[in-house]
Amino acid sequence: MHYFAYKGKRFCAESVPVEEIIAETGTPVYIYSEKTLKRHYKAFDKAFAKTPKLICYSVKANSNIAVLRTFASEGGGFDIVSAGELYRALKAGADPSKIVYSGVGKREDEIEYGLRSRILMFNVESPQELRAIDSIAARLRKKAGVAIRVNPNVDPKTHPYISTGLKKNKFGIEAEEALREYVHARAHLKNIDPIGVDCHIGSQITEISPFVDALAKTRELVLSLRGEGIAVKYLDMGGGLGINYDKEEPPHPTRYGEAVLEGTKGLGVTLIFEPGRAMVGNAGILVTRVLYTKKGSMKNFVIVDAGMNDLARPSLYGSYHAVKPVRDKGREEISVDVAGPICESGDFLAKDRLIPAVEPGEFLAVMSAGAYGFSMSSNYNTRPRAAEVMVSGKEFHVIRQRENLSDLLRGEQLVRQGRRKNR
Ligand code: LLP
Repeated sequence: MHYFAYKGKRFCAESVPVEEIIAETGTPVYIYSEKTLKRHYKAFDKAFAKTPKLICYSVKANSNIAVLRTFASEGGGFDIVSAGELYRALKAGADPSKIVYSGVGKREDEIEYGLRSRILMFNVESPQELRAIDSIAARLRKKAGVAIRVNPNVDPKTHPYISTGLKKNKFGIEAEEALREYVHARAHLKNIDPIGVDCHIGSQITEISPFVDALAKTRELVLSLRGEGIAVKYLDMGGGLGINYDKEEPPHPTRYGEAVLEGTKGLGVTLIFEPGRAMVGNAGILVTRVLYTKKGSMKNFVIVDAGMNDLARPSLYGSYHAVKPVRDKGREEISVDVAGPICESGDFLAKDRLIPAVEPGEFLAVMSAGAYGFSMSSNYNTRPRAAEVMVSGKEFHVIRQRENLSDLLRGEQLVRQGRRKNR
């Protein structure tokens, strides 16, 4: 559910016609609906109303600080994977005691930043990382809250690039080894406080069963740890709940909630969730301008001013994003490729897609672009990254300026003669 819809012939974000926004910002522009963000957060919150829990929005899905602030003011915490994301979350007003730090490759300076910021816990992905955290914490005279990320060897039945809970994936530690690591930590790693168990099996998961299977494995580990006298307080279920892009029918948070509550019955832990896509995916659109239309002998092309540098998902995963005209002119539908300006054939937003015929100068809205849209955008082909806008009822605010040409060269410099040091 989201608040983007036609009012008459004009496509609107909440109560604001998209045309009014682009008249001010130009294109390409990402537009987010605050009401949708809040609605999604509340749906998740409600699904777990009866149990102690912490919703740690996964910053990587959409890391604009205005988006983060929206969730922080609802009482949410954050799942971060880098010093940069920690910096953003803190700038947005996050409570550090509600931050969990995930990721396979945390650097020493990043671990130190997390410890100094007093985050809740590190989700640890390897025995070496566990020892690194212990020694950094010892140097800082701190105790690090830790959960080991279990690799449950469960198939999430999603795109292979975003499946993370199989033995062949680089993520997590297998359950038997994890148990040994907890026991080792208790005996030898004095600056580790093993407070949780963590698991994240993948993204855009549209069935309940993989979550249930993973939960069965983590539940077993929590119980084995109890048997060893290690009473963890937190069970982090990760993220991964899918959304509707096309014809998928992902479970509603309420159904997901019922399954999770069933699987954690009597466990006496605080549940942590790390939803990303389910919070922001359908709360954002990317608006682009039609530059040219081209009729080939095999295909019709609509060339637009947003490319794979703005929205990488179609090129990277072959993902589907619905495309709608910003003004409904009642034209007949034709089959087109909606392609960007980047010099690669893989640069498309939609392929062989039926959309109403459009003309140069008109605008298209690429739907469900709020998750992994701007956050994965780049400057490829030396293109400035898009502006971002937050709509709230009848108002809209630019929450990120479009980059300009000088932004594109920031930090670069010409080699100065007579200063050749590294010969
Ligand atoms: N927690 C961890 C440890 C993660 O690695 C991720 C996502 C999440 C939570 C949030 O998952 P979500 O609820 O959003 O599914 N770029 C890809 C998705 C990559 C997901 C990476 N990890 C895409 O555009 O589909």
